[in-house]
Amino acid sequence: MTSINPGKKAAGERATEYIQSGMIVGLGTGSTAFWAIEKIGKMVMEGLQITAVATSVTSEEQAEKLHIPLISFAELDHIDVDIDGADEVDENMNLIKGGGGALLREKIIASSSKEMIVVVDESKMVETLGKFPLPAEVIPFGWEMTFRKLQSFGCTPVLRKKNQEVFVTDNGNYIIDCSFGSIPSPGDLQSQLNNIPGVVENGLFTNICSTVIVGYADGSTKVIS
Ligand code: A5P
Repeated sequence: MTSINPGKKAAGERATEYIQSGMIVGLGTGSTAFWAIEKIGKMVMEGLQITAVATSVTSEEQAEKLHIPLISFAELDHIDVDIDGADEVDENMNLIKGGGGALLREKIIASSSKEMIVVVDESKMVETLGKFPLPAEVIPFGWEMTFRKLQSFGCTPVLRKKNQEVFVTDNGNYIIDCSFGSIPSPGDLQSQLNNIPGVVENGLFTNICSTVIVGYADGSTKVIS
């Protein structure tokens, strides 16, 4: 991590106040969830007894270094609280996620959790979703056809690359980033895109998030429930 964003740090750390001993905790992905995981690591060292499940290989590695006890998804029947970041949050707590490419595991874990707490800095709060390109995770087979089908929804799609190579998710899939400009009906679009054969999941999270913690540059936070 190069420079610390105080809003992200404050939001990530504040979310850990929702964790109690005995809970099963979902660990999000990204530079804001990072701070929540760091704080959970300290709390575990001081005696907090939890088990955690990670939304990405990166978060799992961070948790392992901090000696946070991890459990595999197969061993779980529920998650108590999931703390994760977002790329955009609208006034109804609908989200765009997946800027880091972990949207599929993030959605599986968020939707299995009693409570999803989203941690963001103030730059992520928007009136209407869509300025941030919506990521769709797609199966590599026939991705060109899936790309064209996504395009027919009126967006400009781009196959995600990293260091000039096609970006591959933790699940072995590709990401197509879809610039819509504006998404006035996120719930409808979320289901329509998932109906395209080849799309595994998209980064719209509607009716999942119960609490948003916004962090500000001065280190203060605001909780929206
Ligand atoms: C990871 O795939 C994403 O969903 C992240 O949660 C999201 O991109 C927010 O990341 P930052 O906290 O790094 O901004």
